[in-house]
Amino acid sequence: MVDVVLGLQWGDEGKGKIVDVLTPQYDVVARFQGGPNAGHSLEFGGNKYVLNTIPSGIFHEHCINIIGNGVVVDPVQLKKEIEKAQTTGIDIHKNLYISEKAHLILPTHRLVDAASEAKKGEHKVGSTLRGISPTYQDKIGRSGLRVGDILSPIFKEKYTNATAIHCTLLDSLNFEYNLSEHEPAFFEAVEFLKTFKIINSEYYINELIAQGKKILAEGAQGTLLDIDFGSYPFVTSSNTITGGACVGLGIAPQHIQKVYGIFKAYCTRVGNGPFPTEQENETGEKLRKLGHEFGATTGRPRRTGWLDLPSLKYAIMLNGVTDLICTKSDVLSGFEEVLVCDAYQLNGTTIQQIPFGIQDYTIDPVYSKFEGWQGDLSKMRTYTELPETFKKYMNYVEAQIGVPVNVISVGPDREETILK
Ligand code: GDP
Ligand code: IMO
Ligand code: MG
Repeated sequence: MVDVVLGLQWGDEGKGKIVDVLTPQYDVVARFQGGPNAGHSLEFGGNKYVLNTIPSGIFHEHCINIIGNGVVVDPVQLKKEIEKAQTTGIDIHKNLYISEKAHLILPTHRLVDAASEAKKGEHKVGSTLRGISPTYQDKIGRSGLRVGDILSPIFKEKYTNATAIHCTLLDSLNFEYNLSEHEPAFFEAVEFLKTFKIINSEYYINELIAQGKKILAEGAQGTLLDIDFGSYPFVTSSNTITGGACVGLGIAPQHIQKVYGIFKAYCTRVGNGPFPTEQENETGEKLRKLGHEFGATTGRPRRTGWLDLPSLKYAIMLNGVTDLICTKSDVLSGFEEVLVCDAYQLNGTTIQQIPFGIQDYTIDPVYSKFEGWQGDLSKMRTYTELPETFKKYMNYVEAQIGVPVNVISVGPDREETILK
């Protein structure tokens, strides 16, 4: 059977931590989309680790970790990440499997990402500049290179043909670059990648399913960044929702059982795009400071705001969430009041659904106010210990969204987790 873990907001909900906490219950963790735009943080034993492409089950020795066909892989980035993870003593060669069908991020994809964002000026998406969009464009445009291609005797020729198109584009945008600065590291990383298990992951995963193994599919980004259902064009270039796990791993829908949806007790967003409950004020500043809301991948300050129920309900609907996990409620401790957005006001009408082209309108959130909670939640390990004011807020959220919150995360560490 397969369970899925994914984010219900704009990413950074705490997926890395939660996957790490759930991994002891699974034989396999498999990433199904995105690439090194992701930054998944894990904390245990007093240390913090950030994973970009490697699945978040890697620190558990029993666990097979698969980078699925839906992921885009930057060999240079992955090499750095593996070398760092290896310093913990974990044998990455033993447990990491890479799909031969995962697409390759080439150095020119990163350059094209930078050039097209520069060209967009103030309308830029605020991409992580990791080459994600150009790589997925080539995938859909049927001109991409895949991890399996690195084993081909004519890989260099394929590489040259692919990059020639990118160079024409870069030249037409008058973008200054020096490809030879990037290529030695790329080809060195390609050789490094060849030492790993490059497999047909859809056969492998389906064999594991047939053997009764338990698989956890790990999403990246969040539902509101989904290419189809996010706030287009301010989105990423893959399907971040449960359906993405089927196409990103080659799993038939009937194998999927639980869908764990993760949400922060408030909202954050990195990059541009609509954010109805954003607090560009002291409250937002306080959330950013107390929540350490700076990107795990780019270090950019994250935009912050109150919990947004219409968008959370939308995300739960799209994903078929069976189990909710709330993270970072400890960050709200000490706030006098905590707000929750119940609906939006658009041109004097109250609406519950996210309108098309939301970025073109002024949306006024309609809020419910709750008394804040006090005390250090991160020290608490049972639901009964949690403050009554927090429970009141959580009961309200659960009643509004109609799905139980089964796990409450009260800190970044593995141990700082409450099962309800
Ligand atoms: P991901 O991309 O969804 O894996 O999330 P990130 O790792 O980018 O961002 C989440 C941040 O919050 C990381 O720094 C985590 O260590 C931290 N974190 C996760 N859960 C909690 C929590 O419950 N409380 C607090 N205070 N921090 C948390
Ligand atoms: P994790 O997995 C938060 C955002 C970028 C930008 C938009 C497009 O850590 O939750 P891209 O580089 O994908 O072309 O950027 O998506 N973004 C993320 N925001 N967390 C992420 O991943 C993100 N990955 C991409 O900031 O707004
Ligand atoms: Mg992140």
